[in-house]
Amino acid sequence: MLRKVIQIGDPVLRQKCETVTRFDKELCALLDDMKETVRKYEGAGLAAPQVGVPIRAVVVDVAEGYFEFINPVFVWQKGEQVGPEGCLSVVGKAGTVCRPDKVKIVFQDRKGDKYSLVARGFFARAICHECDHLDGIIYVDKATDLRDVED
Ligand code: NI
Repeated sequence: MLRKVIQIGDPVLRQKCETVTRFDKELCALLDDMKETVRKYEGAGLAAPQVGVPIRAVVVDVAEGYFEFINPVFVWQKGEQVGPEGCLSVVGKAGTVCRPDKVKIVFQDRKGDKYSLVARGFFARAICHECDHLDGIIYVDKATDLRDVED
């Protein structure tokens, strides 16, 4: 089921999200809906607070594949990359953001199993952007040249 993407200005986007402790049907339904929603709007990722659920769950949909990260934590971040970003919660805007070039995260999947993953380039950027949402941070807070764009 498609979910409504909450827009900047709503306080749900500014709170620190709760750790996921229940790996149940409700979480599966949320993740399925987030996948459908991120694909519908052609985003590179989506965080649970963006659909009004303030828990530590994100999806990332990039060239490397579609990923679900529950309770993601950075192990390390290396290097630097500067590039453009947008956000499904900030329609009609884009900005330039400096991010690490390579990251390692540990996370759980929808069953609660633990994994680690190394990402670089745009994949790393998408992970950083989505994980920021879990701490109430939106890319516009970090962008150097926020500008209007046509959709
Ligand atoms: Ni975003």
